[in-house]
Amino acid sequence: MEGIRKKNAISKSKLVFMVLLAVLLLIQLVRPQKNTKASPAGKAFVDTFKVGKQVDAILAASCYDCHSNNTNYPWYSEIQPMAWLMDKHVKDGKEKLNFDELPSYGPRKLNSKFTQIIKQIEQNKMPLTSYLWMHEGARLSMDDKKLLIDYFNSLTDNE
Ligand code: HEC
Repeated sequence: MEGIRKKNAISKSKLVFMVLLAVLLLIQLVRPQKNTKASPAGKAFVDTFKVGKQVDAILAASCYDCHSNNTNYPWYSEIQPMAWLMDKHVKDGKEKLNFDELPSYGPRKLNSKFTQIIKQIEQNKMPLTSYLWMHEGARLSMDDKKLLIDYFNSLTDNE
């Protein structure tokens, strides 16, 4: 009796494992569309606002992946459910702020976006913590923060 019960227990866990494996394989087939465009991320913004090299480099390392029309996808973005999580961050991020769209905004909307950016950086809310786990280089140093805040302050009219 003992032996039989044990055997059953093993085959049940085997079944669960196989079902999980099948689900994991199946979800690989459903892929979100990638956020990529021919023109480099942030180019329109950099050209319009005469952004310096240093500021552009920081934004490229820390912000453009979720706030532009061009995400730089890492290898694990090919694997579900990572691709979905990333897709959600990019969609939500772009909805709030898209550097590639800033040049088409009027002065009022621009001012509000720049003020939001300053606030997010000052409050250490961006880049998202989950992004920093896999992108150590995206972490803003004190110098990076100061550069960005000074730059965006120079674009706003609320001194
Ligand atoms: C991993 C993706 C990701 C990265 C990288 C990222 N953001 Fe975001 N950002 C989001 C998401 C998602 C939202 C919307 C949800 C939220 O506010 O938490 C958002 C919202 C914002 C907002 C709007 C906040 C508001 O008031 O509603 C600003 C401004 C912003 N981000 C600035 C930045 C800046 C500046 C950087 C770089 C220093 C950056 N983000 C990096 C994903 C990201």
